[in-house]
Amino acid sequence: MFPGGFPSALASYSRSPGWCYHRRPAAAALSSAMLCLVAACSLLWTPIAAVALHPSMARRSSSVNSRQVPMSAAETLVGYDEFVRTNPMTDRFHVKSFHHVELYCADASSAAGRFAHALGLRAVARSDGSTGNQACTSLCMQSGDVRMVFTAPNVPVERDADACQTPGFDRATALSFLEKHGGLAVRAVCMEVDDAAFAFARCVEGGGTPVLEPRWMTDSRAHENEETPRAGCTVAEVQLYGDVVLRLLSFDDGYSGAHLPGYAQLPVPSSSVEGRYGITRFDHIVGNVWELMPSIRRLKAMTGFHEFAEFTAEDVGTVDSGLNSMVLACNSELVLLPLNEPTYGTRRRSQIETYLIANGGEGVQHIALKTDDIFSTVAAMRSATPTGGFCMMDPPSDDYYTELPARIGDALEPWQFEKAQELGLLVDRDDQGILIQVFTRPVGDRPTLFLEIIQRVGCMVPSDNESQEHLVQKPGCGGFGKGNFKELFKSVELFERSLDGE
Ligand SMILES: [Fe+2]
Repeated sequence: MFPGGFPSALASYSRSPGWCYHRRPAAAALSSAMLCLVAACSLLWTPIAAVALHPSMARRSSSVNSRQVPMSAAETLVGYDEFVRTNPMTDRFHVKSFHHVELYCADASSAAGRFAHALGLRAVARSDGSTGNQACTSLCMQSGDVRMVFTAPNVPVERDADACQTPGFDRATALSFLEKHGGLAVRAVCMEVDDAAFAFARCVEGGGTPVLEPRWMTDSRAHENEETPRAGCTVAEVQLYGDVVLRLLSFDDGYSGAHLPGYAQLPVPSSSVEGRYGITRFDHIVGNVWELMPSIRRLKAMTGFHEFAEFTAEDVGTVDSGLNSMVLACNSELVLLPLNEPTYGTRRRSQIETYLIANGGEGVQHIALKTDDIFSTVAAMRSATPTGGFCMMDPPSDDYYTELPARIGDALEPWQFEKAQELGLLVDRDDQGILIQVFTRPVGDRPTLFLEIIQRVGCMVPSDNESQEHLVQKPGCGGFGKGNFKELFKSVELFERSLDGE
């Protein structure tokens, strides 16, 4: 349970299972929770550039932050309100969409099982000793178009060199990755492209660092008696940031496997919770880096992606722990890659710097998963929490919901508003649509990777490829929750000041 009782500002969902809380004083536990909530929203935040340079803030911060470096993005960010979104269509190769993320872990079955229970993912494909792969165990879990692959190294064997069907897997690299980043961290962000070999060449030509040369994969066991060319895929990897790779994947026409060649397709169970949770696709995948602009310049040169959004100090309007953030997008804007960097000189250590220390360097901070019915999704997730599901962030105060109508107008029906408050959801809108979001606490032992559940409402436009009657939703509809940052950040600062006895 929550030592010392529950702060009155927390709603009923604060009474989540005791194992969600760390065994430490109540104040510290809440501080950690709110810090993560801030981090969760962080992709929109701010730089706090001007504030951080204020002499009084510099004095107060000097004893907190050890890494005093210039804010690399402060000179180039113009802020949310001044930023004019355009789509120059500058991709250097054709990108279709996110395909999967691969997480390295210590035990694939255990990690995959928790995500199945907590998020409604279904096991669709497996690569292990039973498929001739002695090097690792790799499970592909799926809901809608979301595929999460959990890969763990097996015991050392002599004949594993060519047996592993997991792209780019190397036992020594995996063990080093786990030691550095903990027992569960994202190794690969995979995009499906038209031609992975061409995309790899363009990335390297643009200055990208190669990790895995293009490799054609096919399922030799399934086609061993065929004389016709086998269907398969081409996979290649370049560095994304830190030890995370950007995986480029293209399929041959006719490939019909559940995941990649070599993986055995698993039977569809007679009953599945996948539909009850309702996760449909990746919305965005966020990385934390030490310095924003060098990473942005490198990724833009590699991919041709354009700037989709950015956030500055004025967008948050607070004075403490901060960050700079920029979102990159491909031509279709179905792949959204926000990057955060910490800012320095503030009183409290940036939540991004906290992540970078805990993660042992740069990495994926959170994965945003889209649903078409966030009320059902979050209700299902919360019902799984007591039996080992994910712990959700504490909900905002009652004041948040009192003030919400003034900010979002009649964007929600009365029953939706009540449901949002009941489930502790955050709501925001931009000039085009509505955003409803909620965040988990970190999903592993380290305070690093967490998940965001997001529903976007509105922004329906005719599909380019279909008749005018077929509508699709514009990516990024409703923004990224900018309207939630200021209030949440204020709450954190108020609380943290109370810890300091101010
Ligand atoms: Fe997000």
